[in-house]
Amino acid sequence: MRDDPIGVFDSGVGGLNVLRRCVMRMPNEKFIYLADKANMPYGARQFDFIKTAALECAETLVSMNCKAIAVACNTATVAAVDEIRKLYGSVIVVGLEPAVKPCFRALKSGYAVALITEATNSSVKFGRLLSDCGGKIKAVAQPRLAKLIEDNCDNIDEIAPYVRSVLEPYRDASAVVLGCSHYTYITRIISEFYGGKIDIYDGADGEAAQLRSRLESAGALAPPSAVGSVRFYSTYKKA
Ligand code: DGL
Repeated sequence: MRDDPIGVFDSGVGGLNVLRRCVMRMPNEKFIYLADKANMPYGARQFDFIKTAALECAETLVSMNCKAIAVACNTATVAAVDEIRKLYGSVIVVGLEPAVKPCFRALKSGYAVALITEATNSSVKFGRLLSDCGGKIKAVAQPRLAKLIEDNCDNIDEIAPYVRSVLEPYRDASAVVLGCSHYTYITRIISEFYGGKIDIYDGADGEAAQLRSRLESAGALAPPSAVGSVRFYSTYKKA
């Protein structure tokens, strides 16, 4: 098991931010990254659709002999992580949660904005997370942002005006939670919008840390002598 790969999946490029954190924390592992481009954007779809797509990704990764799966997508996590765990009991499964709790704990005054997809916003899990924070975190659901980032990730400044227009009503916020793995790409734009004076919370490293600790407790971490690698795969729509 120690030599088996770790699967990481998202609807597209967002999960690469989680993958990067995983590689930094576990350089000896063999990673398989799967981008479900054919079904992107998850965040604008119905729950059943997202669940089916995410389960197919998990099935593909399990068929590639993965010892662990990191769901590198907040939307797929709310829609499917419980089911993936149920289906693949012998595989270590971790999900990506918006860093709402750490943000809430650190918030001294005012309120924070949680940027999320529409699907995440409509989930019971996320609703519960917000209500635990007593109104201090405002959910800002974005129907278009993830796709805009997916299409412009190598020229991200192109979408800066759009990001600024999303944030404008929340100019007085004290912190921002990145509740979608794609949003890591706009961290700098957000920071500049607030003049560098805002705390930005990203769940990617927390997920990587959790994965490492789960593998460690199971005695399933690759040995330090192992050579790490990453293989990339993508689904695609037939023309
Ligand atoms: N990256 C996904 C997330 O973390 C959503 C992107 C999409 O809408 O496909 O929620």
